[in-house]
Amino acid sequence: MTETISFPVTRTNKTKIQDVDFENLKFGATFSDHMFVVDYKDGKWGQGEILPYDKWSFDPSMAALHYGQAIFEGQKAYRTSDGGVQIFRPLANLARFNQSAVRMSMPEISEELFVGGMTQLIQIDQDWVPKKEGSSLYIRPFMVATDEFLGVRTAEEYRFAIICSPVGQYYSEPIKVKVEKEFSRVAEGGIGNAKAAGNYAASLYPTKLAQKAGFHQLLWTDAATHSYFEESGTMNVMFLIGNTLVTPSIGSTILKGVTRDSVLTLARERGVTVEERKVSVFEIIEALKSGKLIEAFGAGTAATIAPIAMIQEDGVDYHLPPIEQRPFAAAILKDLNDIRTGKAPDRFGWMMKIV
Ligand code: COI
Repeated sequence: MTETISFPVTRTNKTKIQDVDFENLKFGATFSDHMFVVDYKDGKWGQGEILPYDKWSFDPSMAALHYGQAIFEGQKAYRTSDGGVQIFRPLANLARFNQSAVRMSMPEISEELFVGGMTQLIQIDQDWVPKKEGSSLYIRPFMVATDEFLGVRTAEEYRFAIICSPVGQYYSEPIKVKVEKEFSRVAEGGIGNAKAAGNYAASLYPTKLAQKAGFHQLLWTDAATHSYFEESGTMNVMFLIGNTLVTPSIGSTILKGVTRDSVLTLARERGVTVEERKVSVFEIIEALKSGKLIEAFGAGTAATIAPIAMIQEDGVDYHLPPIEQRPFAAAILKDLNDIRTGKAPDRFGWMMKIV
């Protein structure tokens, strides 16, 4: 078990766990009994504490509500086969959180608060980590600007918090995606590689239109030419062409996914050639037409590995091979799950055991 820093704890006197149907978890709809909270004021972080999960009150002028200084992370804690609990790559999420903070002109946070707060919180709420295979405890660290002030400037006060939600699968079936060529989520030099709330807001309207038309998600393309793939709505995107795994390289418009990096590492371990580069829509459509595109899938914390069943481009539907004929993504998902649940050795040093 990892040595934890001891933050003060106020325990709830009424657990909600008996109301949770762990067999039928809806993503992000149920929250564990406690949360970690720390405020930033006068140029420094204050005392972190663990509190009962509860509503907050805030001033209507709160800066995050008006000018969007709001960032977050997505992580997961897993139940191991021996009944323990471990968190997947928390330091990678901390690094990305601090990159997002810098880009959004927000204060960075220490490992002690981010990882230490998370560790103690999940130790307290350990019964909330699902035991069912394929389920996990989704961890949502986030930071919002809390200044009570309407002038447009970098805020001076912030709140960082961590909440947890037991979850099952994000997508219950292979997904249908549309290549988006009209709207853009982000542009070069913008905040696309920050996990900023506003990026998700920008995606909602085009995604709603696509969902109304029967798609699960969009495949975003570059804002300048709409010719190159960037990422999908909730995850990075990968294509298996022959024995080569191709994925858009990280830049200012693409989120540096922790699952993305883990999948690429596991693919290399399996002897698959990995190419991180510009991936044109033309190339993928040609590969689909010629049958060279064997698999396509999204990779993300919430989504894990989400196989793509169909890609629509310019009104034409391109279907991928049936899921039973796609062993690669399934094997990578198994590799990931085995490491996360302790069934396979943690050969890349990804897991932090906390219980
Ligand atoms: C995640 O995968 O953790 C995400 O943040 C994607 C989405 C649920 C917002």
